Amino acid sequence: MSDRASFDEASAQRLDRQYAAPALVAQRRRALDAMALHAGQTALDIGCGPGYLTLEMAQQVGTQGRVIAVDTSEPMLDIAHARCKGLAQIEFRLAEAAALPCPDESIDVAAAVQVYLFAADLDVVVHELARVLRPGARAVVIDTDWDSVVWHSSDRDRMERLLAVWMRRYANARVARLLPGALGRAGLKVTHADVIAVVELDPGDNTYSGSQAAELARYVVAKGGILPAEANAWKDDLLSLAARGEYFFSLNRYVFVASKPR
Ligand SMILES: C[S@@+](CC[C@H](N)C(=O)[O-])C[C@H]1O[C@@H](n2cnc3c(N)ncnc32)[C@H](O)[C@@H]1O
Repeated sequence: MSDRASFDEASAQRLDRQYAAPALVAQRRRALDAMALHAGQTALDIGCGPGYLTLEMAQQVGTQGRVIAVDTSEPMLDIAHARCKGLAQIEFRLAEAAALPCPDESIDVAAAVQVYLFAADLDVVVHELARVLRPGARAVVIDTDWDSVVWHSSDRDRMERLLAVWMRRYANARVARLLPGALGRAGLKVTHADVIAVVELDPGDNTYSGSQAAELARYVVAKGGILPAEANAWKDDLLSLAARGEYFFSLNRYVFVASKPR
């Protein structure tokens, strides 16, 4: 079985809850600001996941516009579909970022948020993004670089061991630093680059890091040969730190706005 993340029913349900975390609500605000959508535009959401962003994109392009929401996971598309019920301007498609179901030069604004770190070949998916953009159109690509994580633990060596296994979950856990080069090779011009820091001081159920901690502990035991006792000790330590007011998590997502030359 592959070490990579699979977006099955359980993981889709988990992400659906995780994406309501305040840090990710703030991230969506940043994504939408960068997209600067207008009524009547045709937009594309690549790797739409549970559809939170798709919903807001559809509200911004309105009934005269159109949003094509693409994902490779049927359970994710089911959740997104339910979330966006009644918005006839959205078309959900089961498709790959590497083979988008869109004609050449048909999209005004595209978003790819937290999806390219799962892509087997970054140049292929970014060339595909460039293919579907109209001349003058913009793309907003947001992705993580897991080297930017600062996750306080009483046992730093153990923390680093677990993170090294966790990074195998992604095709490229350090994809963000590669995006300027890949966008440029695809003929897109990067017009803005920025960072979104997810900073959390408690690991509660409604936080991004609390949800990821549970998934990390499950993943490293299932796929990384880490003993359950070690994973549990790590999780217990996070809770002890939180009880003492010493919990700290920070992870950077990087925002790239790129345009296709006219
Ligand atoms: C972490 S979620 C991000 C969801 C959404 N973009 C957001 O930020 O709210 C990643 C999503 O990308 C999808 N995905 C992963 N690899 C993909 C690929 N090669 N093509 C299309 N979708 C993909 C997954 O099924 C999952 O729904």
